[in-house]
Amino acid sequence: MRLSTRNLFFLALSATTVMAQTPVPNPYTIVSPPPTLARHAMVVSIHHCASDAGLEILKAGGNAVDAAVAVGFALAVVFPQAGNIGGGGFMLIRTHAGDTHFVDYREQAPAAATADMYLDAQKNVVPGLSTSGYKSIGVPGTVAGLIYAEKTYGRLTLAKVMAPAIKLAREGYILSDEEAHNIAAAKNLAAFPDSRRLFQRDGNFYKTGDRFIQPELAQTLTRIAADPATFYTGTMAAELAASIQKGRGLITAADLAAYKVHDRAPLTGSYRGYDIITAPPPSSGGIVLLEILNILSGYDLGKMGDRTPQQVHLITEAFRRAYMDRADYLGDPDFVSMPLTQMANPAYAAAWRRSMDSAAPSPSATLQRPGGFLPAPPAATNGPAQESTQTTHFSVVDAEGNAVSNTYTLNNYFGSGVTAGSLGFLLNDEMDDFTSKPGVPNQFGLIQSSANAIAPGKRPLSAMTPTMVLKNGKLLLVIGSPGGSTIITTVANDIISILDNGLNVQQAADAPRFHHQYLPDVLEVEKAFPLAVADALKATGYTVTRNNQADEKSPGVWGDSEMIFIDLKTHTLMGADDQRHKFGKAAEY
Ligand code: DON
Repeated sequence: MRLSTRNLFFLALSATTVMAQTPVPNPYTIVSPPPTLARHAMVVSIHHCASDAGLEILKAGGNAVDAAVAVGFALAVVFPQAGNIGGGGFMLIRTHAGDTHFVDYREQAPAAATADMYLDAQKNVVPGLSTSGYKSIGVPGTVAGLIYAEKTYGRLTLAKVMAPAIKLAREGYILSDEEAHNIAAAKNLAAFPDSRRLFQRDGNFYKTGDRFIQPELAQTLTRIAADPATFYTGTMAAELAASIQKGRGLITAADLAAYKVHDRAPLTGSYRGYDIITAPPPSSGGIVLLEILNILSGYDLGKMGDRTPQQVHLITEAFRRAYMDRADYLGDPDFVSMPLTQMANPAYAAAWRRSMDSAAPSPSATLQRPGGFLPAPPAATNGPAQESTQTTHFSVVDAEGNAVSNTYTLNNYFGSGVTAGSLGFLLNDEMDDFTSKPGVPNQFGLIQSSANAIAPGKRPLSAMTPTMVLKNGKLLLVIGSPGGSTIITTVANDIISILDNGLNVQQAADAPRFHHQYLPDVLEVEKAFPLAVADALKATGYTVTRNNQADEKSPGVWGDSEMIFIDLKTHTLMGADDQRHKFGKAAEY
């Protein structure tokens, strides 16, 4: 760290202006309830019906994976914004014996996909083509992933764990104000006749308190439970491919038949003596998280104080640097090789620290990667690229100590907007997570390189970061969130809030988030972020944006942390259901 007059100014500013003056009250501050406590087992998700479905399966003798599969199918019914059978995701599993598995059921590009499929004749990106409609759909992986997890790591049968979801689809569930609003406001649903019919009753919108019944989806789930092969190689595959072909999408029955789940080794690292188990590529989440934590391990963040200007500054500079490497190097590990070992090297993190000014931002435009660690990046960094706005995370710990951390997605809110004909479920727009064209931003403004170019059978780079933290070999924390490009910084914020700032798990979930992703060179803060701290950071040179619109219902917030913390002294489970949304639940016994 360099010490300059500016540093002294900054330290004085944090110590006097922010600490001594009465802070400006922020009306958006969330007052956290206490964490939910449990003696035996817990399921936390964004929807109370899905958490209850998981609990029902645990009580019926299921393990954490049985419960997670039940939650996954249930969220496809009760949280159509992101819960899905037409998308994809990642399931991180840790058994009580300490074995870990990472089930990669990410979508993949169909065989007919090409690197320039979203460009017009002049090589310009066609707006909306990768984010909405039939051409944006990747080959769905969720059904394969959940079936694989159940068969390989579950204890019950597929029919048993799917039963709660089928019941929810057949008998319906009551819509809250927030849910009714979300479904009615979704423009991408209105654009496709089957979606408009099923979710918006052709304009006679569902209202608060209405029961939402989905007979087509109940029928589809019943068929999958009876014949797990139907979705990829049976009659359902033929129907799904036909409906996508009719909409002039690329996915064929052969693409569905070719889809495979990958059971990968998770990434591991450490932070302040805790072990981190996290997502490997094709997610960028784990390696970027480890790089952030490695950089920050050189600072005593706890001593600086929770979300003081100095703490937020150093964390932001770590975010900036790790996201620069994300931009240049990452993609599908089955298609590109990546310098993961070098990115996770503590000596590399130390070199990054030496590039940091202790008081002022390093402009992204002139940021230089420390030499001698990483190979030259692949050609043509693709300029700001995009990601999406809805995904969902859930966590499960069973009575034996087996745990699941699962994040899955349709990418956009309600995915591509396309419902698979009379099959009654929404399809993803995950193709947008690829790089459409160098220099052209996608939905989330992320930068990505040719390592993430579109190719047949390839999986688009993700930011989803299902993670677990251990202390002395014992499970301490199950963690994850949606939020597109902000997922990784949300998980980092949560880990730092708990391990450095001493917040309990619920306070950590609700604490105001901040985010930087290298480009655009902007520090984004949630609307509840302390105003005096934002002002202090602006004074050191940051461009700070507040009221970032990341959610159709709640401007100024992003993410949804659904976490379980284990008090290792009392073996009490402590659940956090993010208070930014009002219909989640930590279900427990
Ligand atoms: O895989 C990814 O990183 C994105 N498709 C996730 C999108 C997302 O989290 C949107 N959620 N709010």
